[in-house]
Amino acid sequence: MKVAQLIGNAIDFAEERLPLNKFDFHSVVQKKEVPLHKLSWAYYTGGLALFFFAIQLTTGLMLLFYYQPTVSDAQASVEFLTRDVPMGALIRNMHTWGSSFMIACVMVHMLMAFAMKAFERPREITWISGVLLMLITFGFGFTGYLLPWHQIAVNATKVGLQSVEEAGHLLPGALGEIPRQVREIIQGEATVGQATLSRFYALHVIVLPLSIFATLGLHLLSVQLHGMSKGVDTPTKKTERFFPFFILKDFSLWGAVFFIFFVIALCLPFESFFSFPLFQPYDALGSTPDGIKPEWYFYFVYYPLELLPFWFVMLAQTVVIGGLFAAPWIFRKTSRRTLSIIAGGAAAYLVIITLFGQVIYEMIKGVK
Ligand code: HEM
Repeated sequence: MKVAQLIGNAIDFAEERLPLNKFDFHSVVQKKEVPLHKLSWAYYTGGLALFFFAIQLTTGLMLLFYYQPTVSDAQASVEFLTRDVPMGALIRNMHTWGSSFMIACVMVHMLMAFAMKAFERPREITWISGVLLMLITFGFGFTGYLLPWHQIAVNATKVGLQSVEEAGHLLPGALGEIPRQVREIIQGEATVGQATLSRFYALHVIVLPLSIFATLGLHLLSVQLHGMSKGVDTPTKKTERFFPFFILKDFSLWGAVFFIFFVIALCLPFESFFSFPLFQPYDALGSTPDGIKPEWYFYFVYYPLELLPFWFVMLAQTVVIGGLFAAPWIFRKTSRRTLSIIAGGAAAYLVIITLFGQVIYEMIKGVK
């Protein structure tokens, strides 16, 4: 009886969150309205993330025609692509800049969805699939970083994987072995080498794309089924038709953003921000270069790891990720005003640690 009731409840839950009977031309196209209020701009952020995902997919496929996923050839293939293939440098630069733009859009989109309480019933599945999309997007960043197999890429990945293993010191007894085993599974051999490159490559070009397609499908389906959330505590009655008005503005924004993005990718090699020589291949016998750092979008966890006790950062990270998944239930009764303050605090933390993490680090450690 209890099992039958449980299954019944699960079906009711799914029916309310994914009312597939509403998926018809009239509801999805003709009837769809977008609320107009002071935060309406936030409804464009998901579309922008989608646009950058499309850019990543297109440029990534083009890079695949030249990239060689072996420790002996990876770096040389990237160098060849950049120096000798017509438009190779541009496509590669678009892919690298695109990852930063996509991650920035996903972060803003998530913070705004949180501040606008867009996770509220019946949008729990939209939100949870969104949290998964964010993790997958970071997964793309982490696995992609290793692929050029240069000095910094390999060493930064080593450091990242080392911190996975160190999490074992926090767990009691036999559980402490699990992070080491996870590291070995990701790494594929005793140290970062060919097996690691093959795994990261498989993750980056097959596993994560398939996962993102499935998760994004669910995300967009639930957005279509429920329409846009009201977004503010006291909504006005004003709305705008999604087709054709909102979508035309969406496309115009994509065009304008693409123009800026393209000019940046054309004129500013992403690597000009790095303090190491562009094509220095990985040297297994060389020492770890000074000051290696992950990409900027990992600073929010990198600097705390450098400055605070490891157990604390791991605990905080687990609480934040768990809290994000459970947000629709934890913050069920919280007002949008309070949610906006929390989202504003999180945004301030992300901006400060990303822009000034190094300065803060030097001040606290007393180094230069
Ligand atoms: C690859 C990453 C992502 C893509 C491509 C994407 C795409 C979209 C699109 C196109 C929309 C409809 C337009 C809009 O409201 O902005 C949307 C809505 C939404 N997204 Fe995402 N999203 C992504 C990640 C996330 C993340 C990380 C979260 C939060 C954890 C999230 C939560 C939501 C929510 C709650 C809505 C409904 C908004 C509303 O009804 O007002 N999404 N997403």
